[in-house]
Amino acid sequence: MTSGAKTIKRRRKTQRPHAMWGLLRRRSPSGFSPSSTAEEVTAGIDGSGLVALITGASSGIGAETCRVLVMRGVHVVMGVRNLSAGACVRDEILKQVPSAKIDILNLDLSSMSSVRRFAENFKALNLPLNILINNAGVCFVPFKLSEDGIELHFATNHIGHFLLTDLLIEKMKVTAIESGKEGRVVMVASIKDEKTDLYKDMTFNYIFLFSLARFLAYGQSKLANILHSNLLSSHLKEQDAKVIVNSLHPGAVATNILHHWCPLYGAIRAIGKYFVKGVEQGAATVCYVALHPQVAGVTGKYFSDCNITELKSHALDRDLAKRLWDFSLSLIPTGRKLFPRRHKTMWGLLRRRSPSGFSPSSTGEEVTAGVDGSGLVAVVPPVGLVLKHAEFSRCGECTL
Ligand SMILES: NC(=O)c1ccc[n+]([C@@H]2O[C@H](COP(=O)([O-])OP(=O)(O)OC[C@H]3O[C@@H](n4cnc5c(N)ncnc54)[C@H](OP(=O)(O)O)[C@@H]3O)[C@@H](O)[C@H]2O)c1
Repeated sequence: MTSGAKTIKRRRKTQRPHAMWGLLRRRSPSGFSPSSTAEEVTAGIDGSGLVALITGASSGIGAETCRVLVMRGVHVVMGVRNLSAGACVRDEILKQVPSAKIDILNLDLSSMSSVRRFAENFKALNLPLNILINNAGVCFVPFKLSEDGIELHFATNHIGHFLLTDLLIEKMKVTAIESGKEGRVVMVASIKDEKTDLYKDMTFNYIFLFSLARFLAYGQSKLANILHSNLLSSHLKEQDAKVIVNSLHPGAVATNILHHWCPLYGAIRAIGKYFVKGVEQGAATVCYVALHPQVAGVTGKYFSDCNITELKSHALDRDLAKRLWDFSLSLIPTGRKLFPRRHKTMWGLLRRRSPSGFSPSSTGEEVTAGVDGSGLVAVVPPVGLVLKHAEFSRCGECTL
């Protein structure tokens, strides 16, 4: 049984809130606190007739959100990259809520072609779409490029969701008009720690090569979630669309999210779970923002512990949000391979002048642009030889 399914099974046996967090029952404008559970914040809400799509619903916060939304009568479509893990979660939920309406579709957010396929498959279900919960995420994974040539945190946490939202937003607008019910986009971001000036002038696709890279890469992708949410909210307001968009921090929650962080994570988690939220509380703000009537008409806000929280950092920078938007769009042209762009972003830092006018970041295509090679015959040496004479590729003063 997968860990997501085990978590759901445990919920069936006991609904006891996480011990430590029970101490924190303080008042707040919404009436909820860090210890409120997803079941508590949605108690009495009738979600029947609504359709929600949740990414990363095969474990952690996503699985619990799925369980609680179907309890409230919402028809949920799970977007998961591991279909068997998703099926285990669905089966456990069905044991608790036999009338649950759940569909599972394959979705790998780190792959743009998978996101496009997923959107097509979703549309083929002929369902309306009231709620889109962009929840899936990776955290502190070792440096890796996605199949589209994008740093993995940025590709999965931001670009995948940016593209998915773009492909489904029209459906949400139409659903809102036809059903007369406001649509909701929910971005599961993270803590608003994006104050660091490192992000101020960020190019978003930076490939950090130093040891703290994965912390920065994760933070950057989560800041991108908030910026995306804020600007999408403004766009939809300008269009008078009946779809609200909000981002949130679920709290520090005991899930699998940090399993890439450290080999001892299992042991740390076993102890740490007494000091952080359980998934019951972790899913509370997600379910609150997705379903609660108090959130009706509220858009472009950031929530934590089921309350609006002020942002004081780069997350409010509209210019940064616009740059991110344009940059994201430039990464998702139809069908174009992104390999050349990846090369540029990594080496773009090294654009210095040289006698030839080219630099270490120049590509083969660039240095031969406009050159007519017809009529020439070339003998291509083995790869080893090319590497040995690597200076040649710099196109500067070459002493071969
Ligand atoms: N837990 C926390 O303390 C915390 C704090 C702040 C923010 N968050 C955010 O909360 C969200 C949910 O995280 P969690 O704590 O519930 O962690 P989790 O249990 O690891 O869940 C993450 C989910 O995302 C899925 N996922 C990862 N990469 C994917 C991809 N390329 N395509 C599709 N799905 C993918 C995972 O699928 P697999 O099972 O197949 O890997 C998993 O279902 C994340 O966005 C995270 O950044 C969590």
